[in-house]
Amino acid sequence: MPQTSTADTLALNGGSPVASPSIPFMAPKLHPQDIEAATQVLHSGMLRAHTNCAELEKQFADKSGAKIGLTCANGTCALQLAYGALLERGDEVIVPAWTYIATASMLAAQGCKLVFCDSLEDTMQVDPADVEKRITPNTKAIAVTHLYGMPVDIDAIQAIAEKHNLKVIYDSAQSHLATYNGKGIGAFGDACTYSFYATKNLGTGEGGLVTTNDDNTARDMGLLRSHGETEKYLHESIGFNYRMNDITGAIGLSRFQRLEDETNKRRAVADKYDELFAGVDAVETPTRTKGGDSAWHLYSLKLNLDKVTCSRDEFIKALVAEGVPSAVHYPKSLTDQPAFADHVTDHPPVARKLATRVFSIPMHHELTDEQIKQVVDAVSKVAEAHT
Ligand SMILES: Cc1ncc(COP(=O)(O)O)c(C=O)c1O
Repeated sequence: MPQTSTADTLALNGGSPVASPSIPFMAPKLHPQDIEAATQVLHSGMLRAHTNCAELEKQFADKSGAKIGLTCANGTCALQLAYGALLERGDEVIVPAWTYIATASMLAAQGCKLVFCDSLEDTMQVDPADVEKRITPNTKAIAVTHLYGMPVDIDAIQAIAEKHNLKVIYDSAQSHLATYNGKGIGAFGDACTYSFYATKNLGTGEGGLVTTNDDNTARDMGLLRSHGETEKYLHESIGFNYRMNDITGAIGLSRFQRLEDETNKRRAVADKYDELFAGVDAVETPTRTKGGDSAWHLYSLKLNLDKVTCSRDEFIKALVAEGVPSAVHYPKSLTDQPAFADHVTDHPPVARKLATRVFSIPMHHELTDEQIKQVVDAVSKVAEAHT
């Protein structure tokens, strides 16, 4: 059955569901072969992580430019595996204020000291200059997100890390198969973490994966994933149960066979949006990171608040009325989240400003040229009505 995500087709208009949006915000559909792959596992009775998870690990790592992949229960667990293997309690870690909460909250869960940094307004990706400014003698790592599918300026981040001897963890939850300077993003840093949440570019319901190029890190993450077990009932260290199951693995592996093609289709949609929005003054399209080829999980516009007479929330409410669903990624800088009250020392200004301006429009591999035009026309119409 096709899967829809109510949460993702809600606009930020008081959380009310969009009345039958004419254009789907996302297209997280299963194909018959995905269902067949899952059914085969059910028939086999081998439900725990088995050959499907192992094959998904191999294929995903290969295509992402990484040496080793480990499947796990979800993207949050993937972050915990990477942080747990690479960081110690009390380590100071620089993390953007402009990302999904898990990138930072799992550092807090690990007992790290969070140092929030700012992002660039054009690409909406982490600002390497601000990262470097915030380094102290206690800094041990940088944890950054390739947000919306767009790679960060990896060369700059890696150069800072090398200069200051820091670890780098890339939260790639939204960035399956993104590339940087022609290489898969998994080729860089100490670990890359991915989410297979239902609406991600590769969705399995819940699920995740972490890649690394280092055998020791892989070993440590493997131990954390499964109770530190080195042989049956022998536990070398304290760990968790963050394992994937083989039904999820089968769905992931089956969907993975279409991912490159679907990602290329997302890229074509982004190109078309860029072209058609060029003449719409009320919004700014996402600037691309030099050398980066985005996975386009989301296409987030920025509203030029000085060019319209309404707020972003009023703007997207009007957009929804035109049959175009919209969502906000994200409504707050992490420094404004109550959960981080004890960690915040200052509020990086660009993150706060982005929180008032951004809104995401439909982005997926099934969007037709006609639908793309319909979205752009609706944005233009709403903009004209508010000038
Ligand atoms: C940037 C980012 N990091 C981490 C996660 C957490 O992934 P999961 O929901 O699979 O735990 C998400 C999921 O939305 C995400 O977007």
